[in-house]
Amino acid sequence: MIFPEWTTANLALYAALTLLSVGMGAGEALGSTLMKYSKFRPQKGWHPRAGMFTLYFLPIVATVIAALPYLPSASLVQVIVLTTLITHFGKRCLEVLFLHKYSGPIDPFTTLAIASFYTLVAGFLSYLNRWPLPAPDGLFWLGLFLFIFGETANFVHHKILADLRGASSEYILPRGGWFDYVVCPHYLFEIVAWLGILLLSRHLFALIALLGMAGYLLARSRRTLTWYRQKFPNFPSNRKAILPFLF
Ligand SMILES: NC(=O)c1ccc[n+]([C@@H]2O[C@H](COP(=O)([O-])OP(=O)(O)OC[C@H]3O[C@@H](n4cnc5c(N)ncnc54)[C@H](OP(=O)(O)O)[C@@H]3O)[C@@H](O)[C@H]2O)c1
Repeated sequence: MIFPEWTTANLALYAALTLLSVGMGAGEALGSTLMKYSKFRPQKGWHPRAGMFTLYFLPIVATVIAALPYLPSASLVQVIVLTTLITHFGKRCLEVLFLHKYSGPIDPFTTLAIASFYTLVAGFLSYLNRWPLPAPDGLFWLGLFLFIFGETANFVHHKILADLRGASSEYILPRGGWFDYVVCPHYLFEIVAWLGILLLSRHLFALIALLGMAGYLLARSRRTLTWYRQKFPNFPSNRKAILPFLF
């Protein structure tokens, strides 16, 4: 793990980042910062495609700006870390534009909150990439594999959701892939992809971001499971939230 120099300023910065990250999951679990989009959307708000595109596009801008100083002489490790960040958010932009079928608005505050968090995560990881691993090691290549696997499986489950909906805007009981075991397999594979980014970057902040996202996605998947159980009386009783057979 690559740690920052523990100056007073860095101690305060990393304490704040940890609180923010842990707070995201805790807030979602307690319902106090429930992100208002998709199944938990408000009556009125921004167009979902415009809101979602904004919150995934800004992190790409931040990633590129933070990389400008080292881009001309970037090492293989730096190029791969940058490529994964841009690929992740670029894939999400393309899915928002061409794959997802939304049925309602996104709350403006939610859009700004998620946009700020993602922009901070992507921009700071890109900035920290000025101090990369000296050379790829075994964990680095494992990270690249996990990233590619996680993003691919995440896409496959997004496609299943989009195909389910067809031309309607109804919610349908998902089937196929890991949806037969959990209600949020796409969240699980997103966590796998970010675990990959941690192994590639190896910076402490990548671990803090991963823990924050995993906490949030675990809490959100539990809420989603509760939502499905209430909406579908015939909901399979053995289906879990995010981890097959366990959680
Ligand atoms: N890294 C992080 O912190 C983080 C946080 C949140 C999300 N994400 C990632 O972003 C991706 C999208 O997340 P999300 O929360 O927007 O996912 P989601 O709520 O499952 O929605 C994804 C798409 O599927 C549609 N959909 C959902 N359930 C459906 C059903 N039962 N029948 C038909 N259509 C359905 C949604 O439509 P509606 O909009 O109409 O509901 C939306 O278009 C995920 O892969 C997730 O991992 C990451």
